[in-house]
Amino acid sequence: VAGASHFLTHDLPDQLEREAPEGLDYRSVFEAAADGILVVSTDGRIVEANAESYRQFGYEDGELIGRSIEILVPERLADGHERMREAYHSGPRARAMGIGMELRGRRNDGSEFPVEISLSPQGRNGTAYVVCVVRDMTERMKLRHLGLAAIKGAERERHRIAQELHDDTAQLLSAVILRLKLLVDEEDTARRSEAGRDLREQIRDAAESVRRIARGLRPPALEDAGVVTALRGHARAFFEGSDLVWEIHADGVDNLLGEDQKLVLYRVVQEAMSNVVRHARASRLTVLIRLVDSLVVTSVSDDGCGFVVEAAGNGPGLGLLGMRERAAGVGGRIEYLSNAGEGCTVVLTLPVNIPEPTNG
Ligand SMILES: Nc1ncnc2c1ncn2[C@@H]1O[C@H](COP(=O)(O)OP(=O)(O)OP(=O)(O)O)[C@@H](O)[C@H]1O
Ligand SMILES: [Mg+2]
Repeated sequence: VAGASHFLTHDLPDQLEREAPEGLDYRSVFEAAADGILVVSTDGRIVEANAESYRQFGYEDGELIGRSIEILVPERLADGHERMREAYHSGPRARAMGIGMELRGRRNDGSEFPVEISLSPQGRNGTAYVVCVVRDMTERMKLRHLGLAAIKGAERERHRIAQELHDDTAQLLSAVILRLKLLVDEEDTARRSEAGRDLREQIRDAAESVRRIARGLRPPALEDAGVVTALRGHARAFFEGSDLVWEIHADGVDNLLGEDQKLVLYRVVQEAMSNVVRHARASRLTVLIRLVDSLVVTSVSDDGCGFVVEAAGNGPGLGLLGMRERAAGVGGRIEYLSNAGEGCTVVLTLPVNIPEPTNG
């Protein structure tokens, strides 16, 4: 096979063999695909691979041609894969591979990633190929995990609320009902007004309990003291006893951000701080919260070991992805700036929530 143009003009089904529309060639369509596309001969050699497949599997352009498809399969599965490939050739048909199985690809550096693969037989005149379309599922699997984590979090939170409503508020209200019954039956006026006072106390307690439960939904300091003060409080407790030198410099942004945005700002800085403590081996951490035009720009920088941002997405962590999701949820954006050995800066940009104009 000389090249893709051969495969693309001679081995496509009839309906595609008519002339390409003016100015379009199928080679560029093949190269532009967002999924990896590999064309494999019956003996398991790769005869074509598009740009995305080189990116997915971490090979230099051209390196895959002539290699065995098994180099892209985790080693522990390669033997089984070869047997399955041979079986496929005896009855090839278009299908998704390994339905219900967690398929994994193997990169050039030996690392693995989750994939979805669909296979379709191609070729004629005695030459058979299998076209494998490979979709990198890394991001999607993470989103799924994140969704599950969010559901679990919400579940825990509901459980906590239910428990407190049951143990606290409901108990108080039962006591109120009892007291009320006494009050209604009481004929002595002095004792009646005493029961009335008790009742008021109990209702006040119940109201306080409801307020306390409601406050548990958001970090209370965030509501009471504003986001910057809440973050200082968190940092003080979080870095207590560590040698890390931290500072927070902030413009007054509390009135410029919506409640959800403030929660996102708080959670993003929290996660960034936790990452610095867990991963960075830093001696210094600086948080800057600045109003720039109509944006609130927050950066969390450390002077630690840094990391390769593109590679971090391959690990199991959900923090970076969660920050990105949270930011997007309130119209904001996240960037991670880091290089190995050069510290890390996380930048969160939030649009200012411009208050509705009021009359007068
Ligand atoms: N400030 C930092 N300095 C050095 N490495 C970092 C820093 N922040 C993140 N990383 C690297 O990026 C990876 C991904 O971070 P992420 O927050 O997504 O996951 P995690 O912290 O490992 O796990 P999780 O947040 O889900 O508990 C980390 O495992 C770490 O290798
Ligand atoms: Mg983390």
